[in-house]
Amino acid sequence: MTRTILVTGASGHLGRRVAARSVAEGWTVVGTFHTAQPELPGVGWRRLDLRDRAMVEGLLTELAPDVVVHAAAGRDRDDWAVIAEGAGAVAAAAAAVGARLVHVSSDAVLSGANPPYDETALPDPVTRYGAAKAAAETAVRTVAPGAVIARVSLILGDGDSKHERLVHALHAGEDGALFTDRYRMPSHAADLAAALLELAGTGHAGVVNLAGSDRVSYHELGCLIAERDGLDPARLPAARAQDRGVVLSADTRLDTTLATELLTTRVRGVRELFGQR
Ligand SMILES: NC(=O)c1ccc[n+]([C@@H]2O[C@H](COP(=O)([O-])OP(=O)(O)OC[C@H]3O[C@@H](n4cnc5c(N)ncnc54)[C@H](OP(=O)(O)O)[C@@H]3O)[C@@H](O)[C@H]2O)c1
Repeated sequence: MTRTILVTGASGHLGRRVAARSVAEGWTVVGTFHTAQPELPGVGWRRLDLRDRAMVEGLLTELAPDVVVHAAAGRDRDDWAVIAEGAGAVAAAAAAVGARLVHVSSDAVLSGANPPYDETALPDPVTRYGAAKAAAETAVRTVAPGAVIARVSLILGDGDSKHERLVHALHAGEDGALFTDRYRMPSHAADLAAALLELAGTGHAGVVNLAGSDRVSYHELGCLIAERDGLDPARLPAARAQDRGVVLSADTRLDTTLATELLTTRVRGVRELFGQR
């Protein structure tokens, strides 16, 4: 009998890749969407609103999946009901049916004031989004202590991530800037999808940092994207978050030693992704 995986947020940027890879690996795949049902061969679709706890419980009880990858996030990144309470509802329902839970968290739970961060780092968020993701981690740890919590940094794609789209928009003259004083460790959604599924098969419980090996500023990342896409990096507006009074985690450099010990999947850094190594 094939095993069943439930991917929440399977209509999203990361969730779509997790669902597609699950199909390729031979799972019976159920994916959730919130607004519009997408096309993805091999995926059974269900609409889910994470703010509706009874709906979450009903879906998990009905499907009794072996694995749940919780990749949904709020449309508004600071939507507490979706991000924090929704994650708690998913974790409780997954625990009730004995499903292995892989919860997708974020480096936004960290202030970035004291890098690097290993998995023992406690959340000290500086944004509402980071606070909601931190509350989600606490809820997951409390109600599903066997769950794995993957802290990921900026997620790139094949031109379809919001960061890549932002670079094109700024290059085209849209208002905004890329920060030179805020640092991340971006990775490709396809690598993360493979790593999340591999993590599901480990017995690991608790936080695992999943990030690419290269630390870059938003502006450095923008220049790499521009060069790859044949745009002129010099046209990308640069600014310091500090000068503009923007509150955003500073340097969320993640120590990824544990992931390299647990997993055979390699999460590539941006220099390798962009052919510079
Ligand atoms: N993107 C990044 O750079 C980044 C960085 C660090 C961590 N993360 C984390 O990685 C995960 C995936 O992020 P992403 O960028 O792939 O997200 P995304 O593309 O914005 O997708 C969000 C998903 O959540 C669903 N959703 C929205 N509101 C919902 C609700 N009320 N109930 C149920 N589902 C709802 C959306 O469904 P519809 O599209 O159908 O509305 C969509 O499938 C999230 O946990 C995020 O916090 C992302």
